Amino acid sequence: MSFPIDRPRRLRSSPALRRLVAETIVTPDSLVQPLFCLPGSEIKRPIPSMPGQFHFSADQAAQQSLKLSAMGIPAVILFGLPDRKDAAGSGAWEEKGVIQTAIRAIKSANPEYLVIADLCLCEYTDHGHCGVLKGETVDNDATLKLLARTAVSQAAAGADIIAPSDMMDGRVAAIRAGLDEAGFVDTPILSYAAKYASAFYGPFREAAGSAPSFGDRRAYQMNPANRLEALREVELDLAEGADMVMVKPALPCLDVIRAVKDRFGRVTAAYQVSGEYAMIEAAAAKGWIDRKRAVCESLTAIKRAGADVIITYWAEEAALWLGEMEF
Ligand code: PBG
Repeated sequence: MSFPIDRPRRLRSSPALRRLVAETIVTPDSLVQPLFCLPGSEIKRPIPSMPGQFHFSADQAAQQSLKLSAMGIPAVILFGLPDRKDAAGSGAWEEKGVIQTAIRAIKSANPEYLVIADLCLCEYTDHGHCGVLKGETVDNDATLKLLARTAVSQAAAGADIIAPSDMMDGRVAAIRAGLDEAGFVDTPILSYAAKYASAFYGPFREAAGSAPSFGDRRAYQMNPANRLEALREVELDLAEGADMVMVKPALPCLDVIRAVKDRFGRVTAAYQVSGEYAMIEAAAAKGWIDRKRAVCESLTAIKRAGADVIITYWAEEAALWLGEMEF
């Protein structure tokens, strides 16, 4: 069949019809809100590099989680800003560390709420790299022990899901072994499996105080030119015991999300990162883009590419809009 019998425009003629035939619908159930946690109490401070986002003390993070769960957002992912840093990043696994304290506060205020703990050392090391150094490079195998130790401390504090974002080889196996040995056999791992060395993490590094003090992360994060390598990373992480895999960033990697979903058919997450957030916010602030439509379109595109779970700084706000998405 072809024109003039076939006229695709017939199914686009009204909002109700477009809604009826929409192939992709984003609901709050698939969204995760990142929260940046500080030591102290009663702090909710705007983050300059990410307008609309805040640094929260543990009590305020707990309040925020109550608000998010009332809006239908099932989970938060936590990042910590410790008050001291050292060469090994030891603040990451302290029993009373910033993340552990925030996890406990959220779980005690809101026991059913899902808390995902981002697991990386870069916020805790004084040099800002994602592991311990040997000379000027990150020592992969020495870092694994510290990651496993951190994962156990996060699970012990009550984290429901551990999400390693460091990109060390073999970390999923090391974390799985550490968790199992400590009795956390049922704690799932959401692996940042295909994490690219992306220019789009800039605002986050300012928000988390985690920019490397020298060099960059290209010796451990992936080259954005590579797709087959992403499949290999995902394959390795699944073989090591990852329960869910993530592709990051999201919009620059829609092809990778699709490839991962089609090849492995496993729960696939995508992280719409700080630079993706900043681009739309900045263009909208200039009046150059319709903010709400741009956010809805980007979330829908990420879901259409195959993401089951989307980590996004707009989770809270988008939860209000999704029922009326129309672009
Ligand atoms: C930690 C980590 C980063 C992000 C998430 N976890 C920064 C980085 O790898 O440099 C970036 C998130 C964002 O930009 O929103 N390793």
